[in-house]
Amino acid sequence: MEFRRLGRTGLKVSTICLGTMQFGWSTGEKDAHAIMSEAAALGCNFLDTADVYSRWVKGNPGGVSEEIIGSWLASGAVSRDQVVIATKVRGRMGDGVNDEGLSRLHIMNSVEASLRRLQTDVIDLYQVHFPDDETPLEETLRVLDDLVHAGKVRYIGCSNYPAWLLAKSLWISDVRQLAGYDSLQPHYSLVHRAEFERELQPLCLDQGIGVIPYSPLAGGFLTGKYRRDSNLPSSDRASGIRERYMNEQGFTAVDTLEEIGAAHDVTIAQPANAWVLANPAVTSAIIGANSLDQLRDTMKGAEVTLDAEEKAALDATTAWT
Ligand SMILES: NC(=O)c1ccc[n+]([C@@H]2O[C@H](COP(=O)([O-])OP(=O)(O)OC[C@H]3O[C@@H](n4cnc5c(N)ncnc54)[C@H](OP(=O)(O)O)[C@@H]3O)[C@@H](O)[C@H]2O)c1
Repeated sequence: MEFRRLGRTGLKVSTICLGTMQFGWSTGEKDAHAIMSEAAALGCNFLDTADVYSRWVKGNPGGVSEEIIGSWLASGAVSRDQVVIATKVRGRMGDGVNDEGLSRLHIMNSVEASLRRLQTDVIDLYQVHFPDDETPLEETLRVLDDLVHAGKVRYIGCSNYPAWLLAKSLWISDVRQLAGYDSLQPHYSLVHRAEFERELQPLCLDQGIGVIPYSPLAGGFLTGKYRRDSNLPSSDRASGIRERYMNEQGFTAVDTLEEIGAAHDVTIAQPANAWVLANPAVTSAIIGANSLDQLRDTMKGAEVTLDAEEKAALDATTAWT
């Protein structure tokens, strides 16, 4: 497993980060523990979660993914200091008017709740899940700085930020001498490129911001299970994937991945992941896996190196998607 520095920081993380969004609804606790243990055994030292994960399931209070990570850590499966835990705050976690957002009040309450669920006394990377235009940016950055100084959080990052907001945040942190964002978690894959590549990518390279893209396999589309003229596979994500990616350009990308995968004697998911990791701005790709087989398959993508011709052929299939 290759390890890369998270942007300008000294923190080293594996190029595969295990996403845990499916834990607590489509993946139960026992399977989730097995997936995390296998990922750790294969060299992954980086886990991503969010307080809000699983709350979209009717009757689910949210926080279950964090709880499952907490029970795995408490089981002693790995030593706490060998794993980098990233979580997020911003989403709605209750019915009260202040139970969401990036206010001082909600963040202070949320970090304590995440620490309890994760059964840890420090969060390695605390990320703002998505912007909150009802809270002044400086209020959010000041409370995050307080959390770093209080030792509850080691690094801070943001997700789903547009470039102007990330640049403004970095500027405020700089002039106010506050802890600044060290990472960005954008949506990025071979079939979803422009949102990151146009403005965020040069900004992150220039400012030394670590980039940890989510959905590098486009939620499963870039694995070959979605094909022209064939039935949708059974997945709770299939209808969303059909609307977003099942078009001629997406299928051409899959065809090209299949050709390149065949040349390397690997599956389609592996060059798809390797393509994301070939971007010089990217630190680590946040993958999702519902089973050990999926995990083992996708993680091998970190071992595939695309040559310049293969990279260019893939780039050409989806320029500016
Ligand atoms: N910051 C944000 O707003 C945000 C948003 C989304 C995700 N995330 C993070 O990113 C993580 C990963 O997102 P994602 O699940 O969309 O990533 P992904 O890696 O693009 O998709 C994962 C899905 O693809 C399918 N799959 C994975 N490996 C496979 C394989 N080898 N063969 C066949 N199918 C395979 C599985 O779905 P099926 O079995 O159902 O087909 C799996 O759930 C999340 O867990 C979360 O931590 C963050």
